Amino acid sequence: MKILIINGPNLNMLGIREPSIYGKQDYNTLVEFIKRSAASLSFEVEIFQSNHEGVIVDKIQAALGVFDGIVINPAAYTHTSIAILDALKAVDIPTVEVHLSDINSREDIRKHSFVSMVAKKTICGHGFEGYKMALEYFTL
Ligand code: DQA
Repeated sequence: MKILIINGPNLNMLGIREPSIYGKQDYNTLVEFIKRSAASLSFEVEIFQSNHEGVIVDKIQAALGVFDGIVINPAAYTHTSIAILDALKAVDIPTVEVHLSDINSREDIRKHSFVSMVAKKTICGHGFEGYKMALEYFTL
């Protein structure tokens, strides 16, 4: 199983940005956590982060025929990006959406997710563990 992990804007600032919401561990620690989680399932993963919407769209398009699944934390683009939604629809690769925080219990602007319209499952509020739960979806 080959899974593409996509992390959106500002997730590279983990450990620095709003630690009371996102925790004190940095992005590299998240990457290592995802790698260990994937290895425990014998999955191959590529982990990608970008702060740019179009770059994320390009990455999703390039996943066609290459990856069996996508795990995406679109970060702020969750709530704004029809372009990312359309790219996920276009490639039609099974996708699981992850959020470190529980977007449903935060500000109203975070309660709507465009990506949820295409995601097979949305996992939020479980911190790093959510990425492992998302990978486990692909064992079902
Ligand atoms: C986030 C939640 C989003 O609302 C926010 O814009 C992020 C991170 C999360 O992982 O909890 O950047 O996707």
